Amino acid sequence: MIGLGVMGRNLLLNMADHGFAVVGFDKDAQKTGTLESSASPGTTVKGVNTLAEMIQLLETPRRIMMLVPAGQPVDDVIHDLLPVLEKGDIVIDGGNSHYTDTLRRVKFMQEKGFHFVGMGVSGGEKGARNGPSIMPGGDLEAYPHIKPMLEAVSAKVNGVPCVAYCGKDAAGHYVKMVHNGIEYAIMQLISETYDLLHRGLGLDNEELYKVYKNWNDGELSSFLVEITRDIFLKKDDKTSNYLVDMILDKAGAKGTGKWTSQDAMDLGIPVPTIDTAVNLRELSAYKDERTQASAIYKTPTADVPVPKEVFIQQLGDALFFAMIISYAQGLAQLAVASKELNMEIPMHDVVKIWRGGCIIRSTLLETFFKAYEKNPQLSNILLDGEIAQLLQAKKQNTRNVIIHAIHMGYPVAALMSTLSYFDAYRSERMPTNLIQAQRDYFGAHTYQRIDEPGTFHSEWEPK
Ligand code: 6PG
Repeated sequence: MIGLGVMGRNLLLNMADHGFAVVGFDKDAQKTGTLESSASPGTTVKGVNTLAEMIQLLETPRRIMMLVPAGQPVDDVIHDLLPVLEKGDIVIDGGNSHYTDTLRRVKFMQEKGFHFVGMGVSGGEKGARNGPSIMPGGDLEAYPHIKPMLEAVSAKVNGVPCVAYCGKDAAGHYVKMVHNGIEYAIMQLISETYDLLHRGLGLDNEELYKVYKNWNDGELSSFLVEITRDIFLKKDDKTSNYLVDMILDKAGAKGTGKWTSQDAMDLGIPVPTIDTAVNLRELSAYKDERTQASAIYKTPTADVPVPKEVFIQQLGDALFFAMIISYAQGLAQLAVASKELNMEIPMHDVVKIWRGGCIIRSTLLETFFKAYEKNPQLSNILLDGEIAQLLQAKKQNTRNVIIHAIHMGYPVAALMSTLSYFDAYRSERMPTNLIQAQRDYFGAHTYQRIDEPGTFHSEWEPK
């Protein structure tokens, strides 16, 4: 393992716990020291401070994984490795690299006789230590050499490892990128429900804990709802307040959500809830302007027009509806990108390995798994009968919640975008005929007709 930050260290310790003898490299002697001192008794874990030492200790073909920040650091590691590698050695990038960088690196390394695997790893620090979801792609020749180790360390659902070969070239990193896009969408949706419960209904943190607990105990059971539940009970150690109330409302982002949106746009795939989630994180950064605007534009004082319990029930339904739509958008992106970028992503395996270990794991993944089992070529999960039934049951309450939120003046951009996506997707006829007419009017861009094939142009200006 190259890079012994907490993720690299934890994943390596996880491998050691599963009986693999491992070596961790970091120039920083303190990090190699921490690695060795945190190894479980009886495991073989060695920390080294030079690449030469590491290379000496590894069997061939060498399996060298790096967990370093995306971008230049990955190229730097490759550069340092080149002189010491032997033909057939396998280099694995387990970070959140942009898939186009991975594509370039796969080619570059192949030309030199080395294997390069772009691999998504999800689950944060704890996941890395106890069982992450792992999304390797690329070099099929290399996969058998790393498969046993990855299967051993990954999370398991019903005994099935949450790791599978995710497709050609940079597919592993593409799948992880879209995973993170969905992660952004769900996090934004949960934050909107929090806003409505907290500012809208006036619930305090202990009441919020109870709502998210109930949700997580039911059909909304998921990692992100579960951690949200626990966040509300965490006390600040600097004041006597709850920690969540002491956190500045500006969201950070390392880029994977934005990349998902950017790439979806390039490929012509609509993922409006992911786009919205990226936008709202961006808007959160304008704290000073928001403060000024809040003094000018007051929030309406309308109350929720239904009893508290009813509203909470409606809100849970809306979150459930919107979560499904978020997965639907991300999975639809994967299905199209797989074809367009010739990655051969096995959709059925992707939802299988997202069932455990990763940040977007939820009981819904089991339903999606069944949908792809029935039809591996499913273009959009909204077309599956069982999923359609789930959405049908929740769509009215999604509308109700959005109407209440609009009256109360609280932003629910992600909820609204899921509903609009749903309403447009289920429209046999969209108002896009008018857009075509306008384009033809001002730019002679032509249009197609509903009653005969061909391309047409009309003179639109009134005589
Ligand atoms: C995961 C996470 C992980 C990381 C995010 C954070 O699957 O384990 O997605 O990869 O925590 O990239 O992303 P932002 O900093 O962009 O929110």
